[in-house]
Amino acid sequence: MQDLQNIQAKVQAAIDGAIDLEALDIVRVAALGKKGEVSLLMRQLGSMAPEQRKEFGPKLNALKNELNQAVLTKRTALEAELLEQKLASETIDVSLPATPIPKGSIHPVSQVFAETAAIFADMGFEIATGPDIETDFYNFTALNFPPKHPARDMHDTFFFNADEDGTRKLLRTHTSPVQIRTLQAAVQMAKDSGKELADTRIIAPGRTYRCDSDQTHTPMFHQVEGLVIDKTTHMGHLKGCLQDFVSAFFEREIEVRFRPHHFPFTEPSAEMDIGYERVGNEIRIGQGDKWMEILGCGMVHPNVLTAVGIDPDIYQGFAFGVGIDRLAMLKYGIPDLRDFFACDQNWLQHYGFSPINQPNLATGLS
Ligand code: DAH
Repeated sequence: MQDLQNIQAKVQAAIDGAIDLEALDIVRVAALGKKGEVSLLMRQLGSMAPEQRKEFGPKLNALKNELNQAVLTKRTALEAELLEQKLASETIDVSLPATPIPKGSIHPVSQVFAETAAIFADMGFEIATGPDIETDFYNFTALNFPPKHPARDMHDTFFFNADEDGTRKLLRTHTSPVQIRTLQAAVQMAKDSGKELADTRIIAPGRTYRCDSDQTHTPMFHQVEGLVIDKTTHMGHLKGCLQDFVSAFFEREIEVRFRPHHFPFTEPSAEMDIGYERVGNEIRIGQGDKWMEILGCGMVHPNVLTAVGIDPDIYQGFAFGVGIDRLAMLKYGIPDLRDFFACDQNWLQHYGFSPINQPNLATGLS
């Protein structure tokens, strides 16, 4: 009995004297661990006479519980002390700037695609798409390029090796093939539904390819195609629509002029120029004594309608094609087209756009 009291006093003193958690744990293991003093006594209970065990057992148990409790109390106190010390020694300077989180940005081409889509969406246009790898039929023939016509060469086409049937696929040189695919789908839908041909009003943004490279040309570039087909749309609509588009896009009144031109898939065809002036090194778009070509357009050629099975005596409309990279350079003052595709992080940070507050088809431009 005396023994137990001695042990209790000794271990309690050691617990009280432990200066940190490590020291406390050494005390705990020495008394209560598997081979600790108290545990060894517990083991001796088995070899005791029953009366002795009856008397000794509960006391030993009580000692064990008390010591366990004492360790716990001390540990809580030491931990609180440790926390106090940490709080006193560590300070957080809340005025320091936070570590910046690297943020992506919208590429100017994507931005201009989004702006263009928003403007045309407000005028009731839908988005249409087509494949980058095209056939000669969609890229040229159906668009009324005569066989062996020099216009085919002017496009600096990237051809693939010939297929087994001798035909060669190609990387589309413009987004105009989407006109053909869209009209074919509309004709098919009219056939399937038994209804008359639905009006078409689409824009087709996408990548285009030509074997060409200098400060204003890259082998891959971007265009937006536009197409309207119904029974009544005329050249006046074409002019109004494109005039409205450039003014919305450049966010100011823009003077435009239409110059006669030739494209195989439109008749009459025109190029649209916008007015600008040079002030020092700067180009100011809107008014001025100079003209800059910005897009091609025209009334859809009857042969194009015939190629997809639409009667040109009943249906008519206009089409246009605009180089998007060029628009982005003009609007955002970017001097070299090749930088668009150099994947230079600094350039992207400088010319890129915040992903927040993007115009979209639901909201239009704010
Ligand atoms: N596809 C022409 C090109 O890339 C641009 C173009 C001109 C498209 C007139 C049109 C159009 O739809 O009507 O050079």
